[in-house]
Amino acid sequence: MPANTDWFHEARYGMFIHWGAYAVAARGEWVMNRENIPVDEYAAKYVDNFKAERFDPREWARVAKDAGMKYLVLTTRHHDGFCLWNTKTSDYNAVQRGPKRDLVRDYVDAVRDAGLGVGLYYSVADWHHPDYPDGYCRDWPSAWRDEDSRKRFFDYYFAQLKELMTEYGAIDILWYDGCIPQPTNGSEVNTWIKSVQPNIMINNRNGAPFDFQCSEQAIRPPSNPELPWEACLTLNDNWGYHAGDDHYKSAKDVIMMLTQTAEHRGNLMLNVGPMSDGVIPPKSAAILREAGDWLRRNGEFLANSSRSPYSWLNWGRLTTKGNIAYLHIFHRPGDELCVAEIANRVLSARMLDGGQPLPFEQSGDRLFVRNLPNPLPDPLVTTIVLELDGTPKAHRQKGEFWIPG
Ligand code: GLC
Repeated sequence: MPANTDWFHEARYGMFIHWGAYAVAARGEWVMNRENIPVDEYAAKYVDNFKAERFDPREWARVAKDAGMKYLVLTTRHHDGFCLWNTKTSDYNAVQRGPKRDLVRDYVDAVRDAGLGVGLYYSVADWHHPDYPDGYCRDWPSAWRDEDSRKRFFDYYFAQLKELMTEYGAIDILWYDGCIPQPTNGSEVNTWIKSVQPNIMINNRNGAPFDFQCSEQAIRPPSNPELPWEACLTLNDNWGYHAGDDHYKSAKDVIMMLTQTAEHRGNLMLNVGPMSDGVIPPKSAAILREAGDWLRRNGEFLANSSRSPYSWLNWGRLTTKGNIAYLHIFHRPGDELCVAEIANRVLSARMLDGGQPLPFEQSGDRLFVRNLPNPLPDPLVTTIVLELDGTPKAHRQKGEFWIPG
């Protein structure tokens, strides 16, 4: 049964959280594979020193709320195979080792209490498992060692998903990742999951049935425009905490990305990589909060945005919803701006923040909005609201073009 996707379209913005024993190494979540660290060494150095001593998922939920995000997705098990919940399938988990606490339980409770969507990320790949073929290869393994090991591995991962899907209440998103060789039996697993979590949304990384597509480190809408979709991106260059990575996107970058996903009727899930103690790096939180402040003033365009029929602009981005077009100005074009796309009659133009009306004129296929303040009132992105006489219509077909987005 397809999930009800209404909440997902309303949400439009979520927080991805990559957190696990790799945060102790502080060199990203692929550290075990990239540095060929043997399982025993990884467990002794990182798993056993993973203490989560300041882990407060209510604080994570607060940061997400301040940021304007509506759901969270936490790595319950990443490719290193270390499980953040109290699994009975293995003692390689956060209750037996490291934090000595069911981190998933506390996360789920806090996020649900905060009224946010609860998402669980699960990597089918597991570098530590003896039946996983070659966790240290430079790519994903392409074949199982033999049918017996494939079966054992399948039973193991299905048993883990059964725990996650039955012991933590209603889960809103299951976010698969990582590759195992075919056959993964994903369809069998997903069909069973739908029987116990009828409203869950599953991403498209472990077979059908799935509910939404995702693009990674890129904003790439699916070719089927009816499919719900989500772009996930890092805030700096790493998913898991990397102490040396200071290459952050700015709050303006975040806003620009949000207008881009909204324009294509998709969601943005932005990642944070908490430190090993459980604290979201202050710089990540500050950027997200700055963009969140902007959203509080300008966020009207986001929830339930529709697919815009318009093409790219030379000063910003245009998003739509109902009979409204939002003009998001990234680069002030001068004292007036021009959109040569809108086939509707424009009934009014005003600033989204503050409501100040602006003079405008339509001449043939060109709309001019005049008297733009200099500087623009919002130091990040100023948004103008156009009220149209009906559903947004374009003069020309959007078409394919080499400019991305
Ligand atoms: C990749 C990486 C992984 C990260 C994920 C997020 O598949 O393997 O480390 O969790 O992308 O989408």
